[in-house]
Amino acid sequence: MTNAFHLDGLEVPFQEGQTILQAALAAGRYIPHLCWHPDLGPHGSCRLCTVVISGRPFSSCTQPAMKGQAVACRTPELNGMRKAIMQMLFVEGNHHCPSCEKSGNCRLQATAYDLGMQDSHFPHQFPKRERDMSHPDVFLDRDRCIRCERCVRASRIYDGKDVFGVHGRGMHSTLAVNSPSGLLADSQIAPEDRSIQACPTGALMAKRVGFVVPIGERVYDREPISVLELRKYAAEEVHHG
Ligand code: FES
Repeated sequence: MTNAFHLDGLEVPFQEGQTILQAALAAGRYIPHLCWHPDLGPHGSCRLCTVVISGRPFSSCTQPAMKGQAVACRTPELNGMRKAIMQMLFVEGNHHCPSCEKSGNCRLQATAYDLGMQDSHFPHQFPKRERDMSHPDVFLDRDRCIRCERCVRASRIYDGKDVFGVHGRGMHSTLAVNSPSGLLADSQIAPEDRSIQACPTGALMAKRVGFVVPIGERVYDREPISVLELRKYAAEEVHHG
């Protein structure tokens, strides 16, 4: 008998060990997410993927799928909460999309569009954050960092380097570089590292490649992130069998 739960009233089959988010994506049902990455596992920090089960909120990227569960995802309340999370992310950093090299390739920007965010609503906090331009081929712009720790995990798991860590808590947390000087120039980072590819914003980028593809022709300029993610996930599922 198929294992299945209900997502907003529609049946979603799942395999043992899958989270709600994984099963939903595999079934062609998009749940917004930022800190989760299929190759890096769950982190549970951005809360964008929150769903409600039996009246209680859960991160769908960490919550195992269970047979017979009734999961609410696209309710007006949860959509409003997601939009508010995005607005808070925008005001607690310094994000200048029109002048950012990552515009059109940025998951933060694309997710904000997808959720219908049209303004930042909350007062901007204009935090002062250090940039690190010390490396010849890679830069770190902490103004754009949302501390999702995708780079931290990718550096450890795939690059075998442990270049990054997060110091501090809450809005005072900051992305730290593990090197004698605390600068990228003294770290082991290289422009082809997975940690750079894993960054969902323009915080961590290889130098001199940001504008190779013109703005307007980039990944999320062409299609909404919700459409692209489902297609990518379906292709990966087929690829992995
Ligand atoms: S994607 Fe689930 S908490 Fe960030």
